Amino acid sequence: MHRLSLTDIHTHILPSIDDGASDVTEALQILRMQKSSGVDRVVLTPHFDSQKQTLEDFLVKREFFFKLLMESYDEATMPELRLGAEVVYSPEILKLDLRQLTLCGGDYLLLELDDLVIPPHLDAIISELTMMGITPILAHVERCLYFRKTPKYLYELTLKGAIAQVTADSISPCYDKGFCKAVLNKGYAHFAASDTHNTKKRPPNLADSLKALSNELIDSMEASARCVWDNAPLYPFNYQKISKIFGKYY
Ligand SMILES: [Fe+2]
Repeated sequence: MHRLSLTDIHTHILPSIDDGASDVTEALQILRMQKSSGVDRVVLTPHFDSQKQTLEDFLVKREFFFKLLMESYDEATMPELRLGAEVVYSPEILKLDLRQLTLCGGDYLLLELDDLVIPPHLDAIISELTMMGITPILAHVERCLYFRKTPKYLYELTLKGAIAQVTADSISPCYDKGFCKAVLNKGYAHFAASDTHNTKKRPPNLADSLKALSNELIDSMEASARCVWDNAPLYPFNYQKISKIFGKYY
């Protein structure tokens, strides 16, 4: 089998800034694990919650800990790194300069919704973000009860311009009765990411988790993740898949 060359767009490796890596040593260990498993590109996405901190404070902290990490960074044994954030949704975020929080400084914003309560008018919020030139990526959609009960709603949000991410660890059918695999196969979700927080309980297992999927699907997911990395539009790539599904419903 050829060596995988993967992109992980959701991680908590940046040390000491959230509930992810506790220090630089652990962050370096996770990065080495990533590289040896076949992950060559990693977006660092610490949590940002506008109810708990200001954007300015978050950015200063993120820069500080990124510089600290880079002092020990070794490109031969670690993936390439770029900055981003995982942004907790609240109506207030629409007033912020969201470009400071996007993945790789591009157009994609990793958005965390409540697991139990979908915000009212989520489709309108997604439309508003896309009008601002921001493409929301809905983080770990398998956690959201409403999406699990009503996968078609996820599909409807993708038609409004949203992208959906599942957690690599949850691809196993025994975890969620096949929800992740099903939404990936149908094109309702676009890629998996590790959402790694540490080396033990939430390790960087993107490459391992993909073994349950077909090579075609792995290639399609990596192509979508590369669109985020390169800040290229994703929908022309996936449109064929979506239009096939579209035909089934309309
Ligand atoms: Fe996360």
